[in-house]
Amino acid sequence: MKYIDENSITTAVLQRLESCKNPRLKEILGTLVIHLHDFAREVKLTESEWMAGIEFLTATGQMCDDKRQEFILLSDTLGLSMLTVAMNNAKPEGVTESTVFGPFHVAGAPHVALGADISAGAAGEPLFVTAKVLTPDGKPVAGADVDVWQADEEGLYDVQRPDLAHHQARAVLRTDAQGNLNFKTVLPVAYPVPTDGPVGKMLVATGRHPWRPAHIHFMVVAPGFERLITHVFRDGDPYMDSDVVFGVRSSLIRQFEQHAPGLAPDGSQQSVPFHTLNFDFVLQPV
Ligand code: BEZ
Ligand code: FE
Repeated sequence: MKYIDENSITTAVLQRLESCKNPRLKEILGTLVIHLHDFAREVKLTESEWMAGIEFLTATGQMCDDKRQEFILLSDTLGLSMLTVAMNNAKPEGVTESTVFGPFHVAGAPHVALGADISAGAAGEPLFVTAKVLTPDGKPVAGADVDVWQADEEGLYDVQRPDLAHHQARAVLRTDAQGNLNFKTVLPVAYPVPTDGPVGKMLVATGRHPWRPAHIHFMVVAPGFERLITHVFRDGDPYMDSDVVFGVRSSLIRQFEQHAPGLAPDGSQQSVPFHTLNFDFVLQPV
């Protein structure tokens, strides 16, 4: 066995990967080893720091179950999720940009008719949303399925309320022949990502806040187009420049207009102030 020191060990591990039959796996693991070793050498990692890292990753895994994915939250808060989204979803000018998916999407949300109130009892100031789904040259995309989900006025998603038996502030709507979409919901507010686990401790230890600026999530699926996973962010939010998961893109920020009580876009009379949002989604053909 030849002598392995702190520099030659990297080549030794890479040589051990030579027999890997899967070229992509070999590339990913080999490059990971190079960066991991360089990182340890650069910061002069001590054994107790190595152990603290192992304990942190162990706690992260132990926090995960079918509802909670602390490893994705770690990836989100270290910017890896958004980096991966940005690299894999480059869009031509004019096509709606993508952002992080987040943990609060629920497959199988109720399909509702255009104009529906998707809040289903979620608390918040009324918000009327109108949108269009378009091709890059401005033609309507009819029959696009638009999955919408968001937090309520306390910054909580329905899935964060264990006693709630039905969906709130989430639904799937289908665009009409003109590519139009409209629904009623509640005004989204800024909210913190879950901080009761190791990622929360990491944020505290590094002096970071846990907040995301107010947003609504959308996933748009239409035959012949790339699936779009995005948000619309509420302009003026104090956390716009410091989103804890780095998900903000300036092209996704919109004014949520505030209105005095009175006639709402759906023809109803609102006795309280309400808001409106208009947003066009432009899909990338496959
Ligand atoms: C969200 O926007 O729902 C979200 C995204 C990343 C981490 C936590 C929450
Ligand atoms: Fe969210």
